[in-house]
Amino acid sequence: MLQWSGTILSALCIYPLLRFIGFTVKPKPRHVTVPAPLPLSGYHAERDFLLFAGANRKKPFAVSRTCTHLGCRVSYLEDKKIIECPCHQSRFTPTGEVLSGPAKQNLTTLEVTIKKDVTGRISAYVVTL
Ligand code: FES
Repeated sequence: MLQWSGTILSALCIYPLLRFIGFTVKPKPRHVTVPAPLPLSGYHAERDFLLFAGANRKKPFAVSRTCTHLGCRVSYLEDKKIIECPCHQSRFTPTGEVLSGPAKQNLTTLEVTIKKDVTGRISAYVVTL
């Protein structure tokens, strides 16, 4: 019993020390399933990402909605076919490349996995965050 108490007490002391020196545990990847088919517009907006997977696209792709300038949430402007940040008007292509600043880095691209049903049709898209 005394050994267990010592172990627990040591862990309680070491954890804050590790946090202080900058040790962080990377969060587990999160998987978000988006049912197919997508609307005719060919894109789907979630809180954290934009998924593009229209019928005329060869491969679906997703980009983060977090602006690389100061972290505002970007939106896809369907009529202009660009992604724009509402805070300082950085503009990006649908694939996340910077068109105009102040953002200097492209949006983060996210992995998309296709799920198919027994007939071989696409039943869902799984985006990994
Ligand atoms: S936060 Fe997006 S442009 Fe500044």
